[in-house]
Amino acid sequence: MNHERLLAELSAFLRIPSVSTLPAHDADCRRAAEWVADELRGLGAHDIQFLGSDTHPVVWGRGPDVPGAPTLLLYGHYDVQPPDPLNEWTTPPFEPALRDGRIYARGAADDKGQVFCLLKAIAEGGRPRVNFRFLFEGEEEFGSNVLFDVLAREPQRLRADAVLVADMAYIAPGWPAVYTTLRGICYAEITVRTAKSDLHSGEYGGAAPNAHEELCRLLGRLKTADGKIHVPGLYAAVRPPTRAERAAWRKLPFKEGDFLKRRVQARALTGLKRAPVLERLWALPTFEIHGITGGFTGTGAKTVIPAEATAKVSLRLVPAQKLTTVQKQLAAAVKKLAPRYVDTRVRFLHGSDPAQIKLDHPVFGLLDQAFKETVGRGTVPARAGGSIPVVPALAKGGAPILLTGIGLPDDRLHAPDEKLELEQLWDGIRVFRRFYELLGQKGV
Ligand code: BES
Ligand code: MN
Ligand code: MN
Repeated sequence: MNHERLLAELSAFLRIPSVSTLPAHDADCRRAAEWVADELRGLGAHDIQFLGSDTHPVVWGRGPDVPGAPTLLLYGHYDVQPPDPLNEWTTPPFEPALRDGRIYARGAADDKGQVFCLLKAIAEGGRPRVNFRFLFEGEEEFGSNVLFDVLAREPQRLRADAVLVADMAYIAPGWPAVYTTLRGICYAEITVRTAKSDLHSGEYGGAAPNAHEELCRLLGRLKTADGKIHVPGLYAAVRPPTRAERAAWRKLPFKEGDFLKRRVQARALTGLKRAPVLERLWALPTFEIHGITGGFTGTGAKTVIPAEATAKVSLRLVPAQKLTTVQKQLAAAVKKLAPRYVDTRVRFLHGSDPAQIKLDHPVFGLLDQAFKETVGRGTVPARAGGSIPVVPALAKGGAPILLTGIGLPDDRLHAPDEKLELEQLWDGIRVFRRFYELLGQKGV
């Protein structure tokens, strides 16, 4: 492998600020889609199409036909999350930088670096005996609505013997993983309105309701300091992990103390104290506040009682919770927990059901073997705290879904100084390469 050339190519991809949630970056998302399409052309793919959107298209393609060989659908996303807070990056997010054997950039691990591995694994070496299908989307970080629509209209795109999703991480350095669940998500804006307009805080302060104060109290009631979420009915569908799972998790290279000290880097962990940390991350729902707007947040000081305030929040869902149920439950909880003199509104921005994948298909053995031969350890079954909205829809196609990845747990996805270790990048290319070879030789 020519490392220098590959790094230059990956850097070109990482330089495109394809932030899917910000309309100002629509043209950049399109450019990232074109970067992917060019790569597919370079692989000799045909039937390359942009589906569902001009600005955030799903990039579709078919690899060179290999009659009689198995069909493998590769999934990834070329969009990224917003890079802010910008001043906390050591080097700018869209100027990829090499330091200490790592490449730093927004999207380095999530997911451009991994899309890169999937594709370069085909290019580096002889052509594997596999019929590739490519499905790369540009809206994963904003709920995947374009891809949902494409798959609802054209479910035949999912016809394959297996689907490989590379958008996750090892569970620890040296410990590759295959994931059995992903959490779902319910993303919403909660707005409270307390008066017709803003008011002078001297003239009215002490007697008029304050939107921020009411919003804070409402949020504080929705989740209390003990980590319990007070959305009536929310926990009804939550199933505890099985005894076998609990026992397996205790053997994983995961220590709560290290997680606090090295990964979270805070002074304490929070949440439901009765549940082990892995259970809080993998098997329980969450309620998180992402940002609060309203009132005066500019430079300087303004004495005002805000009449309106909005919080962006999300709940993570675990099997067997349903998005549509949780949406109704959240809307009802907000109504119930706000005082009568406050108007509330809940607007849902995106969401997805949780995913559950059985590992009983022989193709999981091939992935395990590919990792074992390449990095010295096979895949350990784990669950994921994050979400990939489209996975339940991919599973409807009937082919087994391999949820895996070549990142590391400390890659700082969605945060400043996101990075990918170069060792992981090179290993990733070799692992997927070996997996394609095994699939081509042994079939499934
Ligand atoms: N790659 C992540 C999901 C992920 C991260 C899975 C770590 C497992 C471990 C994905 O790009 C992601 O961030 N998804 C969003 C989806 C949401 C915006 C709809 C997420 O989980 O917040
Ligand atoms: Mn991702
Ligand atoms: Mn992400």
